[in-house]
Amino acid sequence: MTSRNVTVVGLQWGDEGKGKIVDALSDVCDYVARYCGGANAGHSVVIGDRKFALHLIPCGVFRPHVVNVIGNGVAFDPLVAVKELTGLADRGVVVDHNRLAISAAANVVMPYHKLQDSLSEASLGDGKIGTTARGIGPCYGDKVNRSTAIRVADLIDPDLLAPKLRATAAIKNKMFAALYDAPPMDIDAMVNEYVALGRQIRPYVANTGAMLRKAIAAGKRVLFEGGQGSLLDVDHGTFPFVTSSSVTSCGVPTGSGVSPGDVGQVVGLIKAYTTRVGSGPFPTEQDNAIGNRIRERGREYGTTTGRPRRCGWFDAVAVRYTADLSGVAELSLSLLDVLSGLDEVKLAVRYRRGRQVVEDFDAAAMDGIEPEYETMPGWSEDITGCLRFEDLPAAARSYVNRVEQLVGRPVGFVSVGPERTQTIRHHTKIEGVR
Ligand code: GDP
Ligand code: IMO
Ligand code: MG
Repeated sequence: MTSRNVTVVGLQWGDEGKGKIVDALSDVCDYVARYCGGANAGHSVVIGDRKFALHLIPCGVFRPHVVNVIGNGVAFDPLVAVKELTGLADRGVVVDHNRLAISAAANVVMPYHKLQDSLSEASLGDGKIGTTARGIGPCYGDKVNRSTAIRVADLIDPDLLAPKLRATAAIKNKMFAALYDAPPMDIDAMVNEYVALGRQIRPYVANTGAMLRKAIAAGKRVLFEGGQGSLLDVDHGTFPFVTSSSVTSCGVPTGSGVSPGDVGQVVGLIKAYTTRVGSGPFPTEQDNAIGNRIRERGREYGTTTGRPRRCGWFDAVAVRYTADLSGVAELSLSLLDVLSGLDEVKLAVRYRRGRQVVEDFDAAAMDGIEPEYETMPGWSEDITGCLRFEDLPAAARSYVNRVEQLVGRPVGFVSVGPERTQTIRHHTKIEGVR
């Protein structure tokens, strides 16, 4: 039997509207699990006039029946988690240990990871990656290094945490002094703070891999919530201007402890245009009036850092590549309403380097790439109230149809506004979706 699970992945450079679709699809799922990234993510859910921005806690928390899981592949920041849980509870969304499980095997983001992230970026000057400064790269660096890693299992046991943290923080102090002339961190204060945080986190900690495998065996349905976007994937993205985890659907098994066959139906999230935060190649970028218009209409400012997002046209070459990487079954196209009011809209259909046509996206060879555009008529109508595909103006429907053709995948959902209900079910085959 094919898996009934669902995986949601971003197919661009992040912020494709994953939070919104995860919230919508979690209605028909039993578990929502994060498998990659950490508090570098900023996922928005809008319910009525209430807007939530979640960084670490999965977006299934707004459905009381859903168990939310922070998988082993996540860079877990206990400070952010506690703050987020408190903020949710203050707004009436109480998430106790029956509704949130945190993997004991997840790696912990420590203060020195965030410090290293900032110091390293500052030292790179113009060559900086433009990270979110959430300590993601240094945390995964320690995971791969092993001997300096601190996992959630260590965090919740003071007898394990104190000696490990003391030894590692002492190494970091030496490193930062030598590399950046930085003053030493107060190790005693750090140990006390993280022992206390560990105490707060302990009730949620579980063997989440076993939990998910058992749930799947019992016929439960899991929704895997991707972070970032596929073009930021550490292996397949525009390296080195990427994040440090495996964000495509290939990251689901390693980042959550299920088998590759349990990835399920993959929904690839795309914006109707493209955005990117941070440095790195962006062939369809519009650093001009069009880009500014998209930024203002789409409120394209980072959910995590508040930075203005770079904006440009839809890039079908890039999305074909990322849809293939994740075995995408259907697309979910968001922010279509932002394009309303433009005389014409453009889509990159192929690349050129000089006179040579470049058919395939090659993240390692982006120099000199120029997109070739197809231009389509725009539409002027406000579409934020459209409930059915047929309600959209003809030009908007043609645009969506063209995206389907160019990417070679059906568009399952079209999102026409940030609110939960502003979603048109189009060609989706996800079982149970009304
Ligand atoms: P994520 O990281 O993929 O979850 O996306 P973000 O939450 O960082 O950014 C998407 C932004 O667009 C958020 O402010 C959402 O509330 C908003 N949004 C999502 N879908 C739509 C849509 O269809 N139209 C409009 N106008 N805004 C949307
Ligand atoms: P969501 O889940 C957009 C980008 C950063 C930077 C690069 C590396 O909300 O889509 P990092 O802090 O991960 O070391 O930064 O990756 N980045 C994101 N951009 N959305 C995100 O998450 C991102 N997470 C990381 O801007 O370019
Ligand atoms: Mg985001």
